[in-house]
Amino acid sequence: MRRGPGSLAVAALSEPEAKAELARLAQMIAFHDRLYYQENRPRISDTDYDALRQRNAAIEARFPALVRSDSPSRRVGAPPAAGFTKVRHAVPMLSLGNAFGDEEVLDFVARVRRFLGLSGEERVALVCEPKIDGLSVSLRYEKGVFVLGATRGDGTEGEEVTANLMTVADVPERLSGEGRSLGAKTGAPSAPGGKGVPEVIEVRGEVYMTKPAFFALNERQRQAGEEPFANPRNAAAGSLRQKDAAVTASRPLRFFAYALGEASEPVAHSHWTFLERLRHWGFPTNPLARLADNVEDCLKTYREIEARRARLDYDIDGVVYKVNRFDWQQRLGEVSRAPRWALAHKFPAEQAVTRLERIEVQVGRTGALTPVAHLTPVTVGGVVVRRATLHNEDEIARKDVREGDLVVVQRAGDVIPQVVSVVVERRPKDSHRFRFPHTCPVCKSHAVREEGEALRRCTGGLICPAQAVERLRHFVGRDGLDIEGLGEAYIQLFFHSGLVREPADIFTLEARAEDVTRVVAEWRKRQSAERQAAKGRPQTAGPKRKKDEAYKSVSNLFAAIENRRRIRSDRLIYALGIRHVGQTTARLLARHYGSLAALAEAMREAAEPESEAYRALASIDGIGPVVARALIDFFAEPHNRKLLSRLLAELGEEPVEAPAAAGSPLAGKTVVFTGTLASMTRPEAKARAEKLGAKVAGSVSRKTDLVVVGADAGSKAKKAEELGLKTLSEQQWLRLIGGA
Ligand code: IVH
Repeated sequence: MRRGPGSLAVAALSEPEAKAELARLAQMIAFHDRLYYQENRPRISDTDYDALRQRNAAIEARFPALVRSDSPSRRVGAPPAAGFTKVRHAVPMLSLGNAFGDEEVLDFVARVRRFLGLSGEERVALVCEPKIDGLSVSLRYEKGVFVLGATRGDGTEGEEVTANLMTVADVPERLSGEGRSLGAKTGAPSAPGGKGVPEVIEVRGEVYMTKPAFFALNERQRQAGEEPFANPRNAAAGSLRQKDAAVTASRPLRFFAYALGEASEPVAHSHWTFLERLRHWGFPTNPLARLADNVEDCLKTYREIEARRARLDYDIDGVVYKVNRFDWQQRLGEVSRAPRWALAHKFPAEQAVTRLERIEVQVGRTGALTPVAHLTPVTVGGVVVRRATLHNEDEIARKDVREGDLVVVQRAGDVIPQVVSVVVERRPKDSHRFRFPHTCPVCKSHAVREEGEALRRCTGGLICPAQAVERLRHFVGRDGLDIEGLGEAYIQLFFHSGLVREPADIFTLEARAEDVTRVVAEWRKRQSAERQAAKGRPQTAGPKRKKDEAYKSVSNLFAAIENRRRIRSDRLIYALGIRHVGQTTARLLARHYGSLAALAEAMREAAEPESEAYRALASIDGIGPVVARALIDFFAEPHNRKLLSRLLAELGEEPVEAPAAAGSPLAGKTVVFTGTLASMTRPEAKARAEKLGAKVAGSVSRKTDLVVVGADAGSKAKKAEELGLKTLSEQQWLRLIGGA
């Protein structure tokens, strides 16, 4: 472990040295406490940790006047369980669709034109902005005063970090502009683009750290004996998510504003004028932003920004295009949590050459065998890469990747790094082709490849421990139940010690607290003994301390589990890991059926292909026959049924929020469109209906509430009439949705 310059004998320290050393120790100990108690990933051995505390105590004994108010010796046990207050975003914080080549950008603009039904002459102006590689935040201003700052979180709910954001100099505490034209005072809203400050406005943008600031911070981290950050983005995120805003204040964070959240009045007609207004209010906006007249201009701007990338003093990873007109943005809306009116055009991936040490074949949740390359660590675009995916058996064969080869690895954005090719000229003489296993490396069952499938799968199913562990990890993972502190290590430990075999067991852990604490304490002891042995030193920390620490870590875990005993139905459905059911489908199902319990019931009925339940399932827009089959199979499986009933006995479900509008006349209604609409394209009509809470189905059935009949309607209109369903003309439809 690094001890830094302060490791003088305690007896030799001068008073100023002692003071500095106590500050350093307080910071270090707090840091390691957090890793240990809250994140379950201690980074130093217990002996080293004890040495820090002993040194702190010895210095305090020699200089009692210097004992700090936040001294580790005054703190008993772990800090309160991690966690910031959660904030629900008034308007969700969306992510962006990606494009990796010009072709996809052309497609994007074509899609926009089609959706809006634009004629050949009509131009679509777009704003091009660098995509800043930081973390997005939302800043809420009421009467021009900064009142609430939040991270993006999952887009719906983020973490409250107001105090921390207040320390960022680029974030104005008060909006400049003429307060007089506030709607509240004059009784009239200020005109879009006017000079006033709205009653309520949320400004969104990116918090980032410049590269020079990042290097300087890492140097300080190293000197303080702390772990450096992997890249400027991690440094920015780590600095913002600090319990103590004073720490954030000491980190040089910056901010660019680029989007609008909630606003009490219209603030602009276009993104370009909105950016102008942001500057007027006192926000920094990116100086490289350009207004492009057409898609060719966009691509030109992309190349210009790309050419300047290396010389910028902050990281960017692409260019974002946004449809300029706000009314068009409004009409385009969003799909799967990304706006239809914006696109991120990413820069090409960065590459590096390194040695492939070993190929490991892992077993996934569905039994798929996936090859992973273990690499000699290498930096790719500023991030250390140790492992990369090799995709599947055929890819290994096609590239003839072998253990011991020098390989080219590539990393693009957040995706898992991949091995792209082999440097064949430098292949070791004794190398041999990789033989992909035909049995599961974990349970030894046959691993078979179905006709037309790229993946080989373990046939062990329920008996394969690797699959069971992966299912549990998926269940508690970030997009599933998101149980803080229940990571891979604990899942492995609990599974193999028999404490958790299926999801429901997680919720009965607390009732078995004594067993759990014992298992955790023993595991920690083994781990630290191993670490000590590796260093050739005997173990020092006593069994009492081990037990106390295990107890603290476990009680934090119980609290996190308790927190999720009520869970939104869509998360729960997704967490089950049903084949082909991703987050979007899970949300669709949760909205349609209301709860997992109801879904399970309906799927049992739907097993009969002639049933009403099956027809209802098949008529949900977005559910095709493959998904329907997977759902029915999953809920028909007796093991899954038992598992579910035990799980539902432990959990309470919360409904998914109705999309946009509870009071809307369309909420919960099933709508079918037929014929041609004159005022909007079919995708737009569908999006508008969904925004108002309707489900849009492709065909008419008795479950249909409403049929909107456009020009030249055919058989669907006839069927609606036969079934005596309510039909609307286009004019009536427009009146209903408030668009006429
Ligand atoms: S606009 C509704 N503009 O990219 C659109 N995002 O992949 C909201 N980002 O979460 C985003 N620079 O963190 C926008 N100029 C920019 C951006 C930008 C970086 C980030 C942002 C967002 C992510 C989406």
